[in-house]
Amino acid sequence: MLHINKLTKSFGANVAVDAASVAVEQPAMIGIIGRSGAGKSTLLRMLNRLTDATSGQIMFQDQDVTQLRGSAKRNWQSQCAMIFQQFNLVPRMDVVSNVLHGTLNRRSTLATMFNLYPTEDIHTAIEILDRLGIAEHAPKRAEALSGGQQQRVAIARALMQDPKIILADEPIASLDPMNAQVVMDALRRIHEEDGRMVIANLHTLDTARRYCDRVIGMRDGRIVFDGTPAQLTTGVARDIYGADETFSEAATSTEIEALNAEVVKLAQVAESA
Ligand SMILES: Nc1ncnc2c1ncn2[C@@H]1O[C@H](COP(=O)(O)OP(=O)(O)OP(=O)(O)O)[C@@H](O)[C@H]1O
Ligand SMILES: [Mg+2]
Repeated sequence: MLHINKLTKSFGANVAVDAASVAVEQPAMIGIIGRSGAGKSTLLRMLNRLTDATSGQIMFQDQDVTQLRGSAKRNWQSQCAMIFQQFNLVPRMDVVSNVLHGTLNRRSTLATMFNLYPTEDIHTAIEILDRLGIAEHAPKRAEALSGGQQQRVAIARALMQDPKIILADEPIASLDPMNAQVVMDALRRIHEEDGRMVIANLHTLDTARRYCDRVIGMRDGRIVFDGTPAQLTTGVARDIYGADETFSEAATSTEIEALNAEVVKLAQVAESA
């Protein structure tokens, strides 16, 4: 389905992604982990053609993504929607308009200028918001929502494009554990219910382990691990994160995740009470 072949990106002498190869045969939920500067964002950006590869190839369903130009490239970009750590919403605009922004690439400039959205699209937007549990916030300004709610608006905007792939660059890095879980649950559900491929850069090992079918570990631009969460042993993690010093950073995330697990338990207890 998705074949990444020796994909490389250099910035001058710095090789950000070094001959990365990945084959995905069916829509999976994939987590990419690695220390800061490992090349995770650059890999996602190349996938969505936000940045061009220096060499190598990306094939999606027999289409050479690396060669796409003009409208074919824009079409590809709407097929693989991107979600960012900082949500990238228009803060003063209402939630539903932010979501409708996801249809921009298929609307005329005139319609965009006058904020004319087809009624059908507005209904779809509300349905998607409802699915993500935030329909009641539709008329509010995006900036009035919590981080977790804003990230769900960003997911709704992505879904508005009806993408085959959702690329998420550290989608929960700015969220507290409770909101992080809500957002990861939403991504997981979208993967399972819609059969969409989700590829997420994650900075905590445990999130990758818990939510993903497959984990890819990057170090210095290279893919050093590609396997199931069960295969991701502490030894492998040490290898991905390199120096022990950085690994202790991961240990801190583990603590956050442990706390997160406690929160879940408390919520379950509260629910059953
Ligand atoms: N536009 C750019 N110009 C020059 N160098 C860049 C550019 N973007 C990324 N790099 C370099 O490429 C390498 C990989 O960066 P990248 O952002 O992909 O890492 P990352 O794994 O996403 O890190 P983080 O976890 O901090 O987000 C780094 O050495 C970075 O400095
Ligand atoms: Mg990054």
